[in-house]
Amino acid sequence: MKEYIIEGGLPLDGQVDVCAAKNSVLPLMAASILTDEIIVLHDCPDISDVDNMIKILEGLGSKIIKNGRDIVIDNSGVNNAQIPVSLAKELRSSIFLLGSLLSRLKQAKVAYPGGCDIGLRPIDIHIAGLRELGIDIQEQGGYIVCNSQNARCADVVLDLPSVGATENLMMSAVFVKGRTVIRNCAKEPEIYDLQRFLNAMGAKVKGAGSSVIVVEGTDRLHGTEYTPIPDRIVAGTYLISAAMCGGNVELVNVNPEHISSLISKLSKTTCKIYIKNDRILIKSRGRQKSLDCIETMYYPGFPTDLQSQIMAMQSVSKGTSVIVENIFETRFKTAGELKKLGADITIKGRVAIVRGVRELVGGEVLATDLRGGASLVLAGLVAKGQTIVKDIHHIDRGYEDMAKVLSSLGANIRRIE
Ligand code: UD1
Repeated sequence: MKEYIIEGGLPLDGQVDVCAAKNSVLPLMAASILTDEIIVLHDCPDISDVDNMIKILEGLGSKIIKNGRDIVIDNSGVNNAQIPVSLAKELRSSIFLLGSLLSRLKQAKVAYPGGCDIGLRPIDIHIAGLRELGIDIQEQGGYIVCNSQNARCADVVLDLPSVGATENLMMSAVFVKGRTVIRNCAKEPEIYDLQRFLNAMGAKVKGAGSSVIVVEGTDRLHGTEYTPIPDRIVAGTYLISAAMCGGNVELVNVNPEHISSLISKLSKTTCKIYIKNDRILIKSRGRQKSLDCIETMYYPGFPTDLQSQIMAMQSVSKGTSVIVENIFETRFKTAGELKKLGADITIKGRVAIVRGVRELVGGEVLATDLRGGASLVLAGLVAKGQTIVKDIHHIDRGYEDMAKVLSSLGANIRRIE
């Protein structure tokens, strides 16, 4: 059983190098099978979600070499259109492969995806969009079985700006003759990154970042080398940790615009934030005044993926804070774990009322999902005494070893395998 053991109470000082965003790297890896030429992705994080995506692609016939932070993908041998349950349940992003497999092999058989247990996470918007493109979809015994022989361009309006559905449709449309329009699409920076990557492979996609994306079909795509955008959620997590613990922490390789909603919140505390190009320096004296209200929203609103971490911060702030979760309905599971450390949190549906306490007290807690797990580590960093965070395989999905990063900043945290 892997766990983190943390002795809380130390300030953080130093530098954190942020690598490429998990939520970009995964769809880009899925998109790589749109070509049989070599794709090289630079600066990729060493996390289990990426390892699971590698296993899935290898199962489809890809040959992949991980060389430090570079991933070299040779998809010339891709010939299998099926993703088994055992692999799909480890990774929700396996759903992106529907779009790219349909484009490459004209068929796909993908098991219903797994991933973090943070809400219902249906895939109805993906399916409805693909059907609009003329793709035949049958649901058979836990598998989604698709055939795109008769795919045609269309004007698709998404019911919700789903990140995954937008990405899936972009990948499904690249080889479809004519002009496909996707409306009410997600505007997250990772969508723009996918557009840039596809265009670097020779695709004709425009509009990403706005609510309408237009894809002009092309005949083939070619290989490329690409560096995905830095991980805004990892950057945000370490900014929040510094705000909570106190100290001076500089993040290197961040796009400040991508976390402007968090920076705007932290600017309302006594933290001082200095931004220069791709660097952010935060200076904090520790315990902050509570933020009044934090409401998660689609980009550029406050990201749901930072909600648990900001909840940990509010747990030890001065005053009361209201957190509204608008994206995933059951994303408050971590509140129960924070309460074990002495947090005072009341949940009513999608609303959490967090009354800041003077201090948390160390204890044993369970990570129940990726971001919630990270928030428990942050709570442990400020809690009095020892905190043990168990089930950290959830955290490993999206963060390179947090113990290594936080120890380099002066925290007392170790990882037990
Ligand atoms: C992506 C991110 C995840 C982030 C989320 C929201 C990746 C790999 N993951 O997840 O980290 O938390 O965006 O920013 O990029 N929905 C439906 N039907 C669908 C699809 C989605 O109802 O077919 C709903 C979901 O239940 C949720 C909302 O739409 O309430 C947003 O989900 P979506 O944007 O699709 O998230 P993911 O792409 O799964």
